[in-house]
Amino acid sequence: MEYTPPHTDSRHKQLDRALSRHQGRPEALIELLHTAQDVFGYLPRDVLAYIADALSLPRSRVFGVASFYPLFSLEKPRAHEMTICMGTACYVNGAAALLRTAHEECQCEENGTTDSLRLRSAHCLGACGRGPLLQVDHRTIVDARTEDVSNAIAELQDPEG
Ligand code: FES
Repeated sequence: MEYTPPHTDSRHKQLDRALSRHQGRPEALIELLHTAQDVFGYLPRDVLAYIADALSLPRSRVFGVASFYPLFSLEKPRAHEMTICMGTACYVNGAAALLRTAHEECQCEENGTTDSLRLRSAHCLGACGRGPLLQVDHRTIVDARTEDVSNAIAELQDPEG
């Protein structure tokens, strides 16, 4: 499917300028992905297809590169992020119950999203002796309990909060 960027969208004009600066050279892929992510805040699939076509690269290759590097995000950013550490130390202290509570209350899967929240698990957040650890945006809760998860989700979903 051919993708045509809307000419009224200044973000696409920035991407087009970067594409023309690199004159369709496939070696510029990583740099163009960085540009696209800076401009759009993430890498929408239609933009990846547009870049692939502009560089005459297979779309699967461009998607593969974009999904390989953790620096790139293929999902639209959400207003809030909740991370539950599932590293060994946190796991033995009850992290699985935190994650289960979060799944139930968000009604989304691990690493899933709601309209306003991205739920993630982590391998270690670097404070193993104080786990289980729960991160809500930039706030870290140590010795977290399921009530902390419930309270945080309620706060994040309260538009007045
Ligand atoms: S295992 Fe959770 S902080 Fe290290």
